Amino acid sequence: MPAGKVSVVGIGPGLPDHMTAKAREALEKSDVVIGYKLYVEQVKNLLSQQEIIASSMGKEVERCLLAIDKAGNGKKVALVSGGDPGIYGMSGLLLQLAGEKNPSLEVEIIPGVTAAGAAAALLGAPLMHDFAVISLSDLLTPWELIEKRLEAAAYADYVIVLYNPRSRGRSDLLSRAREIVLKHRQSETPVGIVRGAGRNNQKQWETTLEELTVLIEAVDMASLVIIGNSHTYWDGCKMITPRGYQV
Ligand SMILES: C[S@@+](CC[C@H](N)C(=O)[O-])C[C@H]1O[C@@H](n2cnc3c(N)ncnc32)[C@H](O)[C@@H]1O
Repeated sequence: MPAGKVSVVGIGPGLPDHMTAKAREALEKSDVVIGYKLYVEQVKNLLSQQEIIASSMGKEVERCLLAIDKAGNGKKVALVSGGDPGIYGMSGLLLQLAGEKNPSLEVEIIPGVTAAGAAAALLGAPLMHDFAVISLSDLLTPWELIEKRLEAAAYADYVIVLYNPRSRGRSDLLSRAREIVLKHRQSETPVGIVRGAGRNNQKQWETTLEELTVLIEAVDMASLVIIGNSHTYWDGCKMITPRGYQV
């Protein structure tokens, strides 16, 4: 039997033109493609003979176990993960489960463009200085810990990137995060919002911490919020965090 392998493939934030050549190659050379249905849909045009197994959100453990099982039977499996698989993606879970179920299995992690990079590029250059990435999803992390990290990042004047700014059924997370950050930052601090970066429905907004309340309803699960540090400014519609060069 040929040796199987799982490639955890970061497919980038949206359309295939944001994907790396290596990710594309791994998909094309795979026997089986496994992933969340939205992500599988995004890469469908690149596939030909592969067996495709798409499942819903919340089935991450099942997807990893299936990938390990198929690869254990000699298949080349591409486990797709949106953005970068190592940033709130599938690679950690896959490695944890592979270590338990089949420690000798070959696993390859293929990085992808993370939503923060894609959104920052659309907004301008907001991540030019130290930044903290915080997920507001309290499905796997207690809200008290999320609050603690928000507080620390805001206090330390990091640019703050908020992933999962709106959990399913929890619309108040972003408002609560805004209140915590406002304890340490001016109300005119720039805030950029990008929905669906690199996708057909891509949209972006330029605002401030003060005005964010007006836009909270526009923020959904496919959005990313970037809060500037005390030096970040809007130059027209470009969000810029200076690195410190004399200009
Ligand atoms: C579970 S995380 C996955 C992140 C992904 N692994 C990455 O590296 O971008 C899902 C969150 O990422 C953000 N996200 C993913 N794709 C995005 C996109 N195309 N535009 C804006 N935000 C996105 C949203 O905040 C979403 O709730």
